[in-house]
Amino acid sequence: AKITFITNDGEKTTLEGTSGSVMSLAVENGISGIDGDCGGVCSCATCHVHVAEEDMERVGEASEIEAVMLELADDVTEFSRLSCQIEISEGIDGIVLTVAE
Ligand code: FES
Repeated sequence: AKITFITNDGEKTTLEGTSGSVMSLAVENGISGIDGDCGGVCSCATCHVHVAEEDMERVGEASEIEAVMLELADDVTEFSRLSCQIEISEGIDGIVLTVAE
């Protein structure tokens, strides 16, 4: 699936991944602002992204545990997700994610 990241400097990068989490894909490719400090276990919020409104339905809502973690994060909106909790699959091909502040 192709996933586009928009970083805080306005740069757009499209990456292709087949499995694993969106956070891992971003970290492996040095997307700035996605650090994945906790290794993807939903306990750091350094992988926080905003999902494009039109992609929200396909990506889905945060799980309960993720929502609790997001309460502690900055720059939270209704489009917030932790990217370590988004599994890459063809179902999310073409989504656009903006890295949170
Ligand atoms: Fe830590 Fe996602 S990598 S919450």
